[in-house]
Amino acid sequence: MSKILLVNGSPNEYGCCGTALEEIANEFAKNEVETETLWLGKKPMQDCIACFQCKTKGKCVFDDDPVNDIAARADEFAGFIFASPVYYGGPNGRLTSFMDRLIFSAGDEKWAGKLAASVVSCRRAGATEAFERLNQYYLMTNMIAVGSQYWNNIHGGTAEDAKKDAEGLQTMRTLAKNMSWLLKSIEAGRANGVTFPEYEEHIYTNFIQ
Ligand SMILES: Cc1cc2nc3c(=O)[nH]c(=O)nc-3n(C[C@H](O)[C@H](O)[C@H](O)COP(=O)(O)O)c2cc1C
Repeated sequence: MSKILLVNGSPNEYGCCGTALEEIANEFAKNEVETETLWLGKKPMQDCIACFQCKTKGKCVFDDDPVNDIAARADEFAGFIFASPVYYGGPNGRLTSFMDRLIFSAGDEKWAGKLAASVVSCRRAGATEAFERLNQYYLMTNMIAVGSQYWNNIHGGTAEDAKKDAEGLQTMRTLAKNMSWLLKSIEAGRANGVTFPEYEEHIYTNFIQ
C-alpha cells in the first residue's frame, strides 16, 4: 500500500504539530499504513513569485528546498497531511509558501484522487480559520479531503500541553483511522474495476467571458 506523507510546517520540530503528527503516525502504523514525515525546518521558505515557469519547465524555478523533491515523488504517496501552527488566525507563511509552490508547480493531475487532510495547532483560537484555509488546496484539485470526529486541531503552546489535549489526540487518531479505511476501500474498489473518474478538459474563465 502507498505511503502517507506527513508535512510538519512548524518551525518547532517536536512542538504541538509534531505531537499531533506523531499520534497520527502511530495510528497509521497500527493500521499497517506506512508514513514518512517531512519537517520544513526553520530557514525562510521561498514563496510563489507567479513566474509560471513551472508550467513550461515542469518544476519550480527555486530548487533549494523540498518543493521539487516532493513534487517529483508525489506518485509515491497515496495521501498527504499538512500541519501548521496557527499564526494570527491562519496557517503559517512557511507552510502556505511551500504548498502554493508544491500544488501549483506539480499541476492538478498529480494531486487528483489523493487523500488529504489539514492539522492545525493553536494556544487558544484561530484553529478553524487556519484549518479552512489549508483545506482550500484540496477542494479545487480533485483531492479527497478526509475529516475526523472534530476539526483536526490540537491545543497548546508546547508539546507538553498538546500531550494533555486528550480530545485533540483522539481526533488525530480518528483521522488516521478514517484515512486508512479510505485507502483500503479505494484499493478494494480498484481491484474490482471501480476506476477513477475521467475528467473533461478543464474550462478556465477569468470572469470576463
Ligand atoms: C507569530 C505567532 C502567532 C500566533 N498566533 C496565534 C493565534 O492567532 N492563536 C493562537 O491560539 N495561538 C497563536 N500562536 C501560538 C501557536 O499557534 C501555538 O503555540 C501552536 O500550538 C504552536 O505549534 P508548534 O509547537 O507546532 O509550533 C502564535 C504563535 C506565534 C509564534
